[in-house]
Amino acid sequence: MTSDTYATSVPHGGVLVDRILQGEAREDARRRAPRLKCIPLSPVNLSDLELIAIGAYSPLTGFMKQADYLSVVRDMRLTGGLVWSIPITLTVAADSASGIREGAEIALCEGERPLAVMTVAEKFSYNKQEEARQVYRTTDEAHPGVARLYRQGEMALGGDIWLFDQPSAMEVEFPALRFTPAQTRRIFSERGWRRVVGFQTRNPIHRAHEYIQKVAMEITDGLLLHPLVGETKADDIPADVRIESYQALLREYYPADRVVLSVFPAAMRYAGPREAIFHAICRKNYGCTHFIVGRDHAGVGNYYGTYDAQRIFDQFKPEEIGLTPLFFEHTFYCRKCGAIVSAKTCPHGKEDWLILSGTQVRQMLERGESLPEEFTRPVVAQVLIDGLRRK
Ligand code: ADX
Repeated sequence: MTSDTYATSVPHGGVLVDRILQGEAREDARRRAPRLKCIPLSPVNLSDLELIAIGAYSPLTGFMKQADYLSVVRDMRLTGGLVWSIPITLTVAADSASGIREGAEIALCEGERPLAVMTVAEKFSYNKQEEARQVYRTTDEAHPGVARLYRQGEMALGGDIWLFDQPSAMEVEFPALRFTPAQTRRIFSERGWRRVVGFQTRNPIHRAHEYIQKVAMEITDGLLLHPLVGETKADDIPADVRIESYQALLREYYPADRVVLSVFPAAMRYAGPREAIFHAICRKNYGCTHFIVGRDHAGVGNYYGTYDAQRIFDQFKPEEIGLTPLFFEHTFYCRKCGAIVSAKTCPHGKEDWLILSGTQVRQMLERGESLPEEFTRPVVAQVLIDGLRRK
């Protein structure tokens, strides 16, 4: 399972992107921006803007132009051949696009507040059904990622961005845990970590998650616990409650010098296999050498097979991904083993296994019921119950 091939982590494409203006250039852009056409960004655009600017999406330096967009949708590669599995687009309604010329500089705004400038290199229409089919493997609008795609504008604006002011989320949502890729890389190097495993999550950490993280920690130097805090669907547990639960768990059950908790500001796409590749590449940019992909990674409903998000890695040469994925079977507690197990390690049967669905867990927590200790540590369950009660 281990490999030393990626004992140091090189950003995707070789260079960590930094699109944050400083000094005179920043002042210039700030002065120009109020006179430019203002494009109000959606929550997803805002988090993508931040992620491009800080280099989490290296090598992307802006929102995709048509050739990259089509190549990503159809072949999971940028035009230069680098693997990239999720389109990163800035879309606008056709009527607002009609007032924007190619070559013009525009201001990217949160509400009416300009945050970034972008020179519109291209304006293009795109096929939502094709994107849905290729990226999400379904055109069903009940899929939350597909539903969002169908709601977005019909025209896409491609071009490089320069950020000069922070989106408000960067200032108010978990500022102390919002490390940039340059910062996490520095932390890993200061700690002397060479092998770092990244863990993506949009859920509370139950015992099964803890188990796979700790197995991975046995073969690496440290864990980047990297919960996604961008837009998620309404019935996922809110990010602030989750963060509190991670902190409580880490305090009591993880060695502080082996874990870095930091947030990943991206929005969930629920694109299963494609999103697993995307999540892995972003975590490589943050300095991870390994990345956990368990059961139904980034999945929703029954759109993807349990291990599709692992199988998709076989479509690429290991060096094209440049980080070692660590694949885990579905894990759960077995009463007879008295431990977290998987079908690979446990000889018993379903009657001895404690498996609760996400919906069951959420319902129990909302009723204020504690979860079985074998499923979730009581300290975590309590934080979740209290947090949901406050909502
Ligand atoms: S995800 O959408 O972010 O993937 P979640 O937070 O539930 O959802 O999962 C985080 C990571 O843990 C993913 O890699 C997922 O595949 C893995 N995972 C979640 N539950 C289990 C489990 N019971 N057994 C093995 N892997 C799991």
